[in-house]
Amino acid sequence: MKILHIDCSPRKESHSRKLSAAILARLFAIDSEIFVIRRDLGLNPIPHPEAGYAAALSSPGAWVSGRPNPATSLSEELIQEIEAADALVIGTPMNNFTVPSVLKAWIDQILRMGRTIGVAPTGEKTGLLQDRPVYIGIASGGVFTGDRARQPDFLTPYLTAAFGCVGLTSLQFFPLQATAFLDGGRLTADQDALLTTMDTTRIDARVTGDIG
Ligand SMILES: Cc1cc2nc3c(=O)[nH]c(=O)nc-3n(C[C@H](O)[C@H](O)[C@H](O)COP(=O)(O)O)c2cc1C
Repeated sequence: MKILHIDCSPRKESHSRKLSAAILARLFAIDSEIFVIRRDLGLNPIPHPEAGYAAALSSPGAWVSGRPNPATSLSEELIQEIEAADALVIGTPMNNFTVPSVLKAWIDQILRMGRTIGVAPTGEKTGLLQDRPVYIGIASGGVFTGDRARQPDFLTPYLTAAFGCVGLTSLQFFPLQATAFLDGGRLTADQDALLTTMDTTRIDARVTGDIG
């Protein structure tokens, strides 16, 4: 089994990194032979879309032709990392109510008409990637979900829409909140509690051979 592991914090020691590592550890407990494809957007950010890429995405002829295009080579590499993975594990901070720009830059490369997004005869967009579990650990300084939420959440609806657009609909969010206020012991307890909700049904089934 292959897992694409993405981290987005610019900090080496970070709450979202710990969270994604703990999610990964749970998957390793199910299958010790997991192969990890690593994409560290926090420490090695990818560039924002450049002119050639913007031009390629703005010319329908380019994306229907299927011809190799150097401007889409990074996009192709990143999409193939998803296609190779049985599941995705993402650790991300909340930045200004949404995803950090490094994660947005990655999304700008993987949402591509004619490659990961198709168009139905009715004109609606359809996802072209095969669905697979996407586990998303979020660290936020304050509280954005639940009764004590004191700020808007554009992160989880945005990722739901963006991933859904390419066909990835099996998302599970793990919000580790109030990192600016809670001590280490409480955050560890909160993280442990979050992980008890982790749905590994499809990973279990892959290991036992119940599904292909
Ligand atoms: C630029 C920036 C913007 C932030 N915006 C928010 C925010 O909108 N809401 C929030 O709760 N915390 C916000 N924070 C705090 C981080 O989400 C929090 O420190 C989190 O633990 C960082 O993740 P990390 O520990 O994985 O680096 C922000 C931090 C930075 C640096």
